[in-house]
Amino acid sequence: MEKTFDLVIFGGTGDLSCRKLIPALYNGFQANLISPESRIFLTSRRPLEVDVRAWLATVLDRFPPACGVTPGGIDAFAKLVKDVLVELNQPSPGWQELAGHLLPASDRPLVHFLAIPPKLFASTCVLLGQHGLSHEHARVVVEKPLGHDRESADAINREIGEHFSEAQTFRIDHYLGKEAVQNLLALRFSNFVFEKLWNASCVDHIQITIAEQVGLHGRGGFYEGVGATRDMVQNHLLQLLCLVAMEPPALLDAGSIREEKLKVLRCLEPLEGEAIERRVVRGQYEDGAVDGTAVTGYTDDLQIRESQTETFVALEARIENWRWSGVPFYLRTGKRLPRRFAEIVIQFKTLPQSFQDAWAGRVAPNRFVISLQPDDRLAMRLMVNDHTRERDHLREVELNLDLTYGENVPRRGPYLRLILDAVDNDQRLFVHRDEVDLAWAWVDRIIQHWNASAEPPLVYAAGTWGPYEAHDLIKRSGRTWSNGLGPINGGSH
Ligand code: BG6
Repeated sequence: MEKTFDLVIFGGTGDLSCRKLIPALYNGFQANLISPESRIFLTSRRPLEVDVRAWLATVLDRFPPACGVTPGGIDAFAKLVKDVLVELNQPSPGWQELAGHLLPASDRPLVHFLAIPPKLFASTCVLLGQHGLSHEHARVVVEKPLGHDRESADAINREIGEHFSEAQTFRIDHYLGKEAVQNLLALRFSNFVFEKLWNASCVDHIQITIAEQVGLHGRGGFYEGVGATRDMVQNHLLQLLCLVAMEPPALLDAGSIREEKLKVLRCLEPLEGEAIERRVVRGQYEDGAVDGTAVTGYTDDLQIRESQTETFVALEARIENWRWSGVPFYLRTGKRLPRRFAEIVIQFKTLPQSFQDAWAGRVAPNRFVISLQPDDRLAMRLMVNDHTRERDHLREVELNLDLTYGENVPRRGPYLRLILDAVDNDQRLFVHRDEVDLAWAWVDRIIQHWNASAEPPLVYAAGTWGPYEAHDLIKRSGRTWSNGLGPINGGSH
């Protein structure tokens, strides 16, 4: 259904806006999810060098939306979009102009998307308040990273909280907008079979991997000194962990879901001292080759001599509660790895009894895989009898469920979904302030431990699966990393 709303993107001509938000909004407009009466304001400090339509055409050419772009499509979309010159840390005429467009307030939703560095959140919220733009129909969407540790995140949350209530504050984690995450919830809480197996009696371990082939793609300035733990573990990986591990919520509303996620974070065993040495591996890529193309190492990419910033992390977490006690959760993310994929693997226990006399072949434990990307897909790895052999022989097969069902329906994509959720005032897939706080508290210990040691990150060649120690981390308990599903219908691999 078409929605009518006003959206102000602060940092409207910046990287996030161009790369993700504008293509997402164009998609939504083409799919009739955004009405022609909606208005999108792009704030920037410098005027565009061309008119809005020409600027949008360039952006959509560089970052094409899934639905494809036509000149007519851009003409129609450009009618919604207006650029406004605004200084974010002081009053400027642009603020009056913005207020002139957006006031008096009506019940039309007004979404302020802060696609700007967090150090500008406070002054922007102050100015929004001063110009009457934080009224009851307004909400503010903030992007990660929310600070660089628990204390700075708390300060940011307090500053936002002075102008927008918690109910008006939408902390975005775009991984929660991925379709597969909806499937994870649907799967867990709408099917009897999974719930019965989803616990320490049946599950051997869980792996969550977000692997990227890309390096810094122009974001080096942001990344240096931040690293994979703050960029990916504190938010995306811990959020996925919460959704996999949480108890069924009382209701599928924002409050109940967030309460269950918080319980998981509260039960995360803190990693400290020697446990960090043993259970966390950090790495930094050096020269190597990705997909057959030679690429330079991290410090060369940034043209700096040395850096302590990690581009890879693998770790073993434990959730000390009734459901999960004793089950390792292996989390892993890295840049310049061999493949781009994100998946959650639930590996079930090995069989209590084997029938080796009856069947030849190794019995591999069942694995249930939720793939978030590149495909939105579920797979179950099962043992069957291999009819091609002379004697009874076991074979591992993959039961695949392609969640696009082969239909050519354009996907909404995470940013469009989450922006429309903010328009609808639906906070289910946004992160509560307390979650941010607990997630920082957990990763802060690890980062502080590294900061206190003189050890640099381990190195790995670009195009490999991280430092050898990451294999060791999981191998020493007889387990192995799953490095992404094979092509669909490609059989087992
Ligand atoms: C962002 C990180 O949140 O997620 C980036 O800041 C990372 O470093 C990106 O590349 C990955 O997102 P996706 O959806 O492309 O897997």
